[in-house]
Amino acid sequence: MEREQYLAAVQPRMPEKRYIHTIGVMETAIDLAQRYGEDVKKAETVAILHDIAKYADIAWMEQIVRDEELDARLIGWGSELLHGPVGAYIAESEFGITDEDMLNAIRFHTTGRVGMSRLEKILFVADMIEPNRQFDGVERLRKKAQKDLDKAVRACIRHTLAFLIDTKRPIYPVSLECYNDVMSVE
Ligand SMILES: [Fe+2]
Ligand SMILES: [Fe+2]
Repeated sequence: MEREQYLAAVQPRMPEKRYIHTIGVMETAIDLAQRYGEDVKKAETVAILHDIAKYADIAWMEQIVRDEELDARLIGWGSELLHGPVGAYIAESEFGITDEDMLNAIRFHTTGRVGMSRLEKILFVADMIEPNRQFDGVERLRKKAQKDLDKAVRACIRHTLAFLIDTKRPIYPVSLECYNDVMSVE
């Protein structure tokens, strides 16, 4: 499928603001793919599809987790954590994407995971730094992403965990494993 077809498929499934975010992630992911030698078309496609399940029905998503025997720990964490794995399920079942690297990029775009591929890192970082994101420190993350993808991943996961702690929210174990993985690199 071409870019316009993917965009037309995701647009009706999300509010305008999320669609604008999706375009921003797409542009950022393409830029990072060119910079770091990743397949640009793959980066573009996973970026367009990454939030396709964000507004899907929670009960339906939890049923997918059970039916597809996805990580049972996802139950009860809401859309914020369900939409990655369920988005990967939709990418495969509705759009016929079978490339495991692309599916993993969508699956783990919120949490990260241990041993992320280059494509996974690109989507993970692009999701956080796309031009519509506004939070303290985002400019620093954008600069890092231009220089060193691994350092940008590390800074992004640190930012995410710090935010969760500051706002008194729980940390999904896969995110914590990702944090420990990237922090022990140096
Ligand atoms: Fe997302
Ligand atoms: Fe996103």
